[in-house]
Amino acid sequence: MPRKLFVTTALPYANGSFHIGHIMEYIQADIWVRFQRMLGNSVHFVCADDAHGAPIMLKAEAEGVTPQQLVGRIGAERNKYLDGFHLGFDNWHSTDSPENTELSQDIYRKLKAAGLIYTKPVEQFYDPVKGMFLADRYIKGECPKCGAKDQFGDACEHCSSVYTPTDLGNPYSTLSGAAPELKISEHYFFRLSDAKCVDFLKQWVNEPGRLQSQVANKAKEWLDGKEDKALGDWDISRDAPYFGIPIPDAPGKYFYVWLDAPVGYLASFKHYCAKKGIDFEGVLADPQTEQIHFIGKDIIYFHTLFWPAMLKFAGRPYKVPDHIYVHGFITVSGEKMSKSRGTGISPLRYLEIGMNPEWLRYYIAAKLNANVEDLDFNPDDFVARVNSDLIGKYINIASRAAGFISKHFNGDLGSFGKNEGQRTTAGPVLAVWGEETAIREAYEQREFGKVIRDAMRLADRINEYFDKCKPWELAKHADNPERKAELQLVCANCIWGFQVLTVYLAPIIPSVARAVFSKFFGIDKSVSWDDHRNLVDRVLPYQHLMQRVDPGQLDALFDLPPAAPAKEQKEVTETSKNGSHSRSAATSSPSTPHPASPGPAAPAAAAAAISIDDFAKIDLRIAKIVKAEHVDGADKLLKLTLDIGTEQRTVFAGIKSAYDPATLEGRLTVMVANLAPRKMKFGLSQGMVLAASGEATGIYLLAPDSGARPGMKVK
Ligand code: MSP
Ligand code: ZN
Repeated sequence: MPRKLFVTTALPYANGSFHIGHIMEYIQADIWVRFQRMLGNSVHFVCADDAHGAPIMLKAEAEGVTPQQLVGRIGAERNKYLDGFHLGFDNWHSTDSPENTELSQDIYRKLKAAGLIYTKPVEQFYDPVKGMFLADRYIKGECPKCGAKDQFGDACEHCSSVYTPTDLGNPYSTLSGAAPELKISEHYFFRLSDAKCVDFLKQWVNEPGRLQSQVANKAKEWLDGKEDKALGDWDISRDAPYFGIPIPDAPGKYFYVWLDAPVGYLASFKHYCAKKGIDFEGVLADPQTEQIHFIGKDIIYFHTLFWPAMLKFAGRPYKVPDHIYVHGFITVSGEKMSKSRGTGISPLRYLEIGMNPEWLRYYIAAKLNANVEDLDFNPDDFVARVNSDLIGKYINIASRAAGFISKHFNGDLGSFGKNEGQRTTAGPVLAVWGEETAIREAYEQREFGKVIRDAMRLADRINEYFDKCKPWELAKHADNPERKAELQLVCANCIWGFQVLTVYLAPIIPSVARAVFSKFFGIDKSVSWDDHRNLVDRVLPYQHLMQRVDPGQLDALFDLPPAAPAKEQKEVTETSKNGSHSRSAATSSPSTPHPASPGPAAPAAAAAAISIDDFAKIDLRIAKIVKAEHVDGADKLLKLTLDIGTEQRTVFAGIKSAYDPATLEGRLTVMVANLAPRKMKFGLSQGMVLAASGEATGIYLLAPDSGARPGMKVK
């Protein structure tokens, strides 16, 4: 019986673009979903923008747009990322939608009918200028303990003491600067402390296999009131003005954003069902349907306490979640990313500079397991794993074996031992088949790192078999029918091993897997798990399946976008790029939250006018190239030693594609002599040389007329 799965990822706040943390979560869920689909299980996989709440309202106000416009703008760019990283959501919706309003209000009414909603007056700071109640994060003042100024309403950054906003000395609203007033307002509460809620949650949390043990333990601490966040009732209302869903029969009151946010999972699914003619309530209420939410570790509280309780006591057609799958956070070169600023890696830039999305899927998969552990994106590790493992071990099998089959057998793999039972030769296919259960279970458990370790070990075995059998030697004796048959057998075994590995890796690298089947096997279909059994009969001539990572791409990835240089005289030394891989959020300015997309290549239009003084700031000098060398591991760079009369400089220039180093030595060119030195992966670059390039390929180093001498100023 195929399983029926309803899977979601956390709904991202709609006030900013995706950062690498979001993409990581989607990749994790997408791999799992693809795996389930390959097995023939039915999966509905949805997400949505989390549109409501005060921050979005205030951000829109600051930009002079409506919250709907702000959310619409962010929503419009989602597909670029989702398509770009092969994220196969069935639907992407918004919490600011009719479906969500209807469902949130319906759940609320049912909770009310169950006696779990009550109201009580709450005294809270109010900004008389803005005319709104202030969440704690919008209040600052003097620390009641140490007197430090400009401290937030909850804790002092200076002496670390913890307090409430009303304890602050001389409090002020960060929105208007006004002194806030204490004001009373009626709030709506969800009675989470009710014995039936607590009893239910204790049983739900303890259900074996429901939650990861770390997550269940956390939830139990909260339920037992061991943490300071002891289980209290939940304030679910906010006063107007608020961007949210009105509470029925409560004028001027809105649901707190965290009430309607998870309902957005259902709203997106409902929206999808309507489009597809699926019975929403039928699927939702079906006891066979497994409802699964992938989330990050920072939002466990909402997903293991409020959300299941809301669903449980709202009753049919709602059903409690079957699993909450929690992941850790991604760091970049060891740096934590801040929620608002993201990291030094922009996922959009990753795509725009032509990096392959499946490298990232592979890399993230390799580092993921089923625990709530953080994982680090390390640029050198990334290059090594993609180039040495994914390409060097796995892709390599096909490229090694295919040539012999095409050349000597016209693509025919022969029929020997294709079926497991009749196999006479102990080829590597048996070993690969032997791991099928282990790999399938690892996927199911979200142990993707194990999947990849197993797959790479098997790739090693296939490569070892290939090396041991020396097909290149056999090919020399292809006139001997026995040798020739052996050649075919060896190569066929490697290709079959490769086929099986391709099926195993398909959830992680779906587009490569599809290309292997269509371009290499001539079978154009979506790859299913069973395809590991049906070994192919023939192959087409091998075509390139995947490019290696160029480490220079990582330099570009970590760099802020270039300030759209005019094309005619594009600077070709890579010194303007930050060569160091360790760039992180900490070094990027807070005013540029994510490196903005560089946009399409600027046309060769003139740049904005500058004054002669601006131009004079650039110290251009005639330089003699005294030495030009290749750089180990650099695909684009040459290392130049330049003589500028008074001294010698080392410059790494991106001109390798156009110049043989030997022809450069002794030439004169023009360099920027006062460019701040840049630390690059290969060493310090102390300036840059000038060259021309245009739409067509080709790079043309500038040269002065004869008579110019090293060190002369160019102006
Ligand atoms: N809007 C809420 C979720 C509502 S779900 C009903 C929210 N949004 S978020 O944009 O801040 O985060 C969305 C998801 O991204 C969360 O699961 C969060 O844990 C995850 N991540 C945010 N930063 C992350 C990393 N650095 N690494 C991995 N995941 C991270 O919370
Ligand atoms: Zn203090």
